[in-house]
Amino acid sequence: MTFQVAVFASGRGSNFRVLADHPDRGTGPHLWEVALLVSDREDAPVLELARDRGIPSCIVPVSERSAHEVARETLAALEEAQIQIVLLAGYLRLIPPPVVEAFRGRMLNIHPALLPGFGGKGMYGSKVHEAVLAAGVRISGPTIHLVDERYDRGPILAQWPVPVLPGDTPASLATRVNQVEHELFPAVVDELARSLDEGRAPRPIPGTGDALRSHFSLTSTPDLP
Ligand code: GAR
Repeated sequence: MTFQVAVFASGRGSNFRVLADHPDRGTGPHLWEVALLVSDREDAPVLELARDRGIPSCIVPVSERSAHEVARETLAALEEAQIQIVLLAGYLRLIPPPVVEAFRGRMLNIHPALLPGFGGKGMYGSKVHEAVLAAGVRISGPTIHLVDERYDRGPILAQWPVPVLPGDTPASLATRVNQVEHELFPAVVDELARSLDEGRAPRPIPGTGDALRSHFSLTSTPDLP
């Protein structure tokens, strides 16, 4: 069976691109495929990526609307496209509780820092990397977690440590984290789809220690204390 996936995105869409193109790389029958883009912004650049690929998109505005109305419209769009898995990829709005409930255990969010640090309301994009640099931590990296009713709080399935290097700016750190996100996100969706297919809970993705070692050897040596 091929799980039908909806991606929610508000911005540029580099994660959407990787997820939408992922099954093309695959061998054998596809376990999942992106069948719908949902955005809260009609000017989001990600919409063009969906158009280019012939993937239907749906705008559900959120500003100045009730959570009830947003939930009703979102659920109708997901139902019409027969969506089974939802991925938040740079989506900056809180998901209304009825949508969380309908997709509990089948909705993932990617966050560009190691949760539970540097998350919560208002923490997105460059704000996250600015906070990481201001705190002086030496390791950052993406987190992928199941979504619950709170911002950035559901059970963590995967994290990939990325070094914070001397001289990093929010933009340089964002680029390094973003590259890793593009590898991690499809791998975690593979595991979620497999777990749903096999009727078991998804397993946390192992191997981030090895990833840390190879990442350090690929980049200049960080000045660890
Ligand atoms: C990604 O880095 C993602 O982790 C982040 O937004 C970026 C979207 O990039 N998400 C958040 O900050 C959510 N709190 P993209 O549009 O190029 O995929």
